Amino acid sequence: MKSHVWRPLFVVIALVLGILLFRAFYVPEDFGAHDRGYTFGFHRLSNEQEWQAFPAKYRDSGYCNECHDDKVETWAISAHGMIPCENCHGAAFDHPEDPEKLKIDRSRDLCLRCHAQLYMPSSGRNDIPGIDATQHNPEESCSDCHDPHNPSLEEM
Ligand code: HEC
Ligand code: HEC
Ligand code: HEC
Ligand code: HEC
Repeated sequence: MKSHVWRPLFVVIALVLGILLFRAFYVPEDFGAHDRGYTFGFHRLSNEQEWQAFPAKYRDSGYCNECHDDKVETWAISAHGMIPCENCHGAAFDHPEDPEKLKIDRSRDLCLRCHAQLYMPSSGRNDIPGIDATQHNPEESCSDCHDPHNPSLEEM
């Protein structure tokens, strides 16, 4: 065979060797298919320990019941019963030690995150009742009228 056929092949071989060499230095040694094969085991093994050591930040709403059972009681049967307390009050893993108090956000933005009316409805988000923030009691805090732990005003 003539050399003009071989020459591009050398280029390809050099490229493959280059990639293998790069991989040998760059990919960590414990990366690969482990016990559970390629489907579930294809990762860096030491990453498992890293995630085990990752500090948890969140509890769940059941934890709040130990001390704030009055809130949990109304919230649980309200329209907001599916929203975890920490969604509005922030992470509570070491509360009440640190922080001693969780934050209370009374801004309209807290609520508008979920209740701003969508004008181009496209997803399940639009099933949440929306209000036009410029028309719906614009100067007031939402929680002046709606109890965030039981927001429906039906009884009033
Ligand atoms: C072991 C008891 C305990 C648990 C469990 C607990 N809290 Fe508290 N919480 C307290 C204490 C004590 C305070 C400070 C005193 C106070 O204001 O009631 C506080 C304060 C707060 C405050 C601020 C109240 C204010 O008036 O400023 C919020 C909000 C709050 N907790 C939410 C939560 C949420 C949400 C959870 C669950 C994820 C939770 N707490 C779990 C004891 C607890
Ligand atoms: C939709 C957001 C939201 C959720 C969910 C929520 N809260 Fe609140 N929470 C608020 C807001 C806003 C206030 C301030 C209300 C006000 O203006 O008095 C508040 C106030 C509080 C307070 C202190 C003030 C008070 O009224 O005594 C506590 C304690 C508290 N929440 C605990 C909880 C717990 C426990 C849960 C879960 C069962 C929970 N919250 C779920 C938004 C929320
Ligand atoms: C994380 C998203 C989220 C946040 C934040 C949130 N809500 Fe809601 N809200 C919902 C969902 C979901 C429902 C229940 C919708 C349904 O199934 O009808 C609801 C229901 C309501 C309802 C009852 C509507 C009715 O038909 O009776 C009111 C009023 C309301 N929310 C006000 C508020 C206020 C005020 C705040 C802020 C303190 C707030 N929401 C924050 C998601 C949210
Ligand atoms: C001055 C009192 C007041 C304030 C402040 C207020 N609302 Fe309302 N809201 C009402 C009343 C009354 C209704 C029921 C009558 C109606 O639909 O207008 C209502 C209804 C709603 C509904 C149900 C709408 C529906 O179609 O079912 C949602 C959601 C809501 N408000 C969210 C909010 C949010 C979010 C804020 C803050 C940005 C807020 N509200 C501020 C009094 C208030």
